[in-house]
Amino acid sequence: MRSSWAIGDVDLYLEPGPVRGRRSGLERALRAAIVDGRLAPGTRLPSSRALAVDLAMARNTIAEAYAQLVAEGYLIARRGAGTLVAERPADPVPVPVYARPSAPRFDLRPGRPDLSAFPRARWAAAQRRALAAAGPDAFWPSVDPRGRIELRERLADYLGRVRGVRTRPDRIVVCAGYAQGLFLLGHTLAARGARRIAMEVPGMPFLRDIVARTGVEVGTVAVDRHGARIDTAGDADAIVLTPANQSPMGVPLHPDRRAAALRWAAETGGVVIEDDYDGEFRYDRHPVGALQGLGAEHVVYAGTASKMLSPGLRLGWLVVPPYLLDDLLAVRDRPELAVGTLDQLTLAEFIAAGDLDRHVRRARLAYRDRRDRLVAELARRVPAVRVCGIAAGLQVRLELPEDGPGEEETRALLARRGVGVHRMGWYHLPPYAEHPPGLVVGYAAPTAAAFAGTLEALVAALAELFGPKAAP
Ligand SMILES: Cc1ncc(COP(=O)(O)O)c(C=O)c1O
Repeated sequence: MRSSWAIGDVDLYLEPGPVRGRRSGLERALRAAIVDGRLAPGTRLPSSRALAVDLAMARNTIAEAYAQLVAEGYLIARRGAGTLVAERPADPVPVPVYARPSAPRFDLRPGRPDLSAFPRARWAAAQRRALAAAGPDAFWPSVDPRGRIELRERLADYLGRVRGVRTRPDRIVVCAGYAQGLFLLGHTLAARGARRIAMEVPGMPFLRDIVARTGVEVGTVAVDRHGARIDTAGDADAIVLTPANQSPMGVPLHPDRRAAALRWAAETGGVVIEDDYDGEFRYDRHPVGALQGLGAEHVVYAGTASKMLSPGLRLGWLVVPPYLLDDLLAVRDRPELAVGTLDQLTLAEFIAAGDLDRHVRRARLAYRDRRDRLVAELARRVPAVRVCGIAAGLQVRLELPEDGPGEEETRALLARRGVGVHRMGWYHLPPYAEHPPGLVVGYAAPTAAAFAGTLEALVAALAELFGPKAAP
């Protein structure tokens, strides 16, 4: 007995059931397929004659099953058009949806690149080239747990040239974004007996959560205007730093602190994890080179395509000191942690063709222009608000006047006007919860067309609270 057949060019699995009661079995199977959406409204069913042959059933049995479902409203019979799946009435029980809050109308949430500027044509061309060059193994997960060699070779060149990273392809591990890289590192260090990984405060809460889920304790490192204060790391086994552009303070790690971080690692045997999430975006001076370039034996360098290209790609990379590599690969070598092979090959082609350099250069100019407009407009209309952390990255930090409305109130007013920003308190926690009132404003997120309106919405709301004519 057949249990499936093709409808038009749709293969459909149905189990009409045992020979006795096959009509009701067929009805049940068709109802289920319609209700769960496998048979979409408007789909034409095979004629009763064709289906009878296909299922080795009597034609009458099929016709009666169809007639029953027409009577129940699942199917409609059209003269000359055959039997079609009917439109479904609205689902009486709403399907629960796990959804994040929708984007604000004026999206200035930090950390987001302009997604509308993704270089679709060049990416598609790179993908075409990757597919043309690919052997059959490209359609299997990477056999090497470090990821595809084509990408690691290109990354080794790129990172050395652009970020001053010292590496070879065999020390690079491709991962699903920095988030997964941090997760792998947490597990690796935990397996090696680490008890605490210290992270910068202020810092991204979701990154702390990732480390916490690996079972190690999350410690803290204080941050001031020179970046992380290495002396506050306590007896941590590793420290996670954002040396090129502290997230979210927007300052580079001072040279003395860079030296202190490497000294700390050499003296304690600790690991420095360098989160270089947006190191390519520096506007007024040369980029700050990677800390890893000064201490490759102690530093795990972590990079990502999320700010340069798209967070949706989920592509990142770790450059790992030799002594950690085997342990990391033992954690990494699991099928559920694999990274898509074709995207790796496409990125390799994209870098090889010079498209990554070109795209970043173009994005840098566009973001610098936005930053300049933001800084100028705030200086003109809301001079009481200080704009900080402007030299790099995709966001600025706004220091609000101490004697005005606080950051909570300010953020709430902005939210009512449809403007999405973060407040500094979101990044802080004890023992470093005290902080001057402030906001973090990501200026890269809006599309080019939406930027002017978004900027106006931000500045108008801030001027209401802090402008020269605002009530004291
Ligand atoms: C400080 C910091 N590092 C790294 C990342 C990048 O994470 P991923 O590569 O997982 O997208 C982000 C993204 O928001 C970030 O804020």
